[in-house]
Amino acid sequence: MALPDYVPPQTMEILFSRQQIAERVHAIGTQISNDYAGQSIVLIGVLKGAAIFLSDLARSITVDNTFDFVAVSSYGRARVSSGQVKMIKDIDNPIEGKHVILVEDILDTGLTLSYLRQLMLQHKPASLKIATCLDKPDRRLVPIEADYVGFKIPNRFVIGYGMDFAERYRGVEDIRIYPEIPAGH
Ligand code: IMP
Repeated sequence: MALPDYVPPQTMEILFSRQQIAERVHAIGTQISNDYAGQSIVLIGVLKGAAIFLSDLARSITVDNTFDFVAVSSYGRARVSSGQVKMIKDIDNPIEGKHVILVEDILDTGLTLSYLRQLMLQHKPASLKIATCLDKPDRRLVPIEADYVGFKIPNRFVIGYGMDFAERYRGVEDIRIYPEIPAGH
């Protein structure tokens, strides 16, 4: 499939600035530190989108923590959910009896996190919560809510802060609106 034309990110409208993101992520880190005071937690990031959110979040959390990553395939380049989710990379370390937080970039249709939540529950963690940088509640196909949400947003396609379009723009520091909503999205 041919790559779409490159749209320079600085031409895209900023939805959340790096400063707004930093403040919000810090606030979530503080909330998690309070909620889990005196305990140890495992953060499980969903590659690749959540990598940057997780790295900032982990540095805002003051309780004992480790992190791990999983990778799933669902969207590919098309930006449109096929509804099919498949695990490509599993966790490296056991989570049985541990307090786990799944860390995601965007909670959209909910298909990815519902699938991952079911899989992680089979490992019998002591508890399982979800942290997402962005939440698009209007797009939900399956009922699932996050315990920690950075920002709730309307149905716009966004890039930056780990989020991509056709693998581009993950390193853009602000969260910006891609200038079109993908067909079927
Ligand atoms: P869902 O909740 O299973 O539909 O999928 C969530 C995943 O879809 C996220 O982890 C993103 O990878 C991707 N996604 C959904 N909306 C956007 C967006 O606006 N920009 C970039 N990726 C998105």
